[in-house]
Amino acid sequence: MVGFWLTRERIARVSRFGHDYLMESGRDHLDDVWGPAYRWEHTLRVAHWAWLLAREEKADVEKCIVAALLHDVSHFASEDYRKHGVRSAEIAKDFLLEERCSAGFVEDIVYAVKSHVGEFDPKTVEAKILQDADTLDRFGYFRILLFGEKANLSNLKDLKENVESFLEYLSRVEKGRFGPMWTKTGERKLKELINLNKTIFKGVLGEIGNTEVPEAYFER
Ligand SMILES: [Fe+2]
Repeated sequence: MVGFWLTRERIARVSRFGHDYLMESGRDHLDDVWGPAYRWEHTLRVAHWAWLLAREEKADVEKCIVAALLHDVSHFASEDYRKHGVRSAEIAKDFLLEERCSAGFVEDIVYAVKSHVGEFDPKTVEAKILQDADTLDRFGYFRILLFGEKANLSNLKDLKENVESFLEYLSRVEKGRFGPMWTKTGERKLKELINLNKTIFKGVLGEIGNTEVPEAYFER
């Protein structure tokens, strides 16, 4: 491809742009758990997954990372959340053209970003990798910690209900709640993460069950 930067410099510039755009457009949500700081951290983790999947799947690593860095850039700028893929793609297109990236490069990024939301069956390897990378970050260690932050840990009855419904949700994910995973590596990694989540949340249910007065042992 015709480019004016070395890969490393391009990625640094895209990263700066993505970060600044999110922070600026999300400035009214700075204190939210799911505010721009979270969204940017999610973006970085998706970029990491995209890098890992791109290497495993022999895809274009740079394109996959750039698409990941821009995929949610309009998160706080889209009035309709369902349109944040299309809106992020428009923002990505303007930025990348201004940065004098080749038309083909821009087209591939725009397609991947646009198709990460909604009912798209992604047609390109970059789009497949972006969708898989985005799904994988829903089930990582960080999301497990965020579950705890959002849950009321001092109310075991509520916690039990939340954990039970999360475990049901995990079963729906296993049955394809987010549609199929598009890459072999993504599918394998998702299985690992779902199993991790199940182990932890089933363990939490077990501990909630054990949080009882010792006299209860003799009634079992
Ligand atoms: Fe995302």
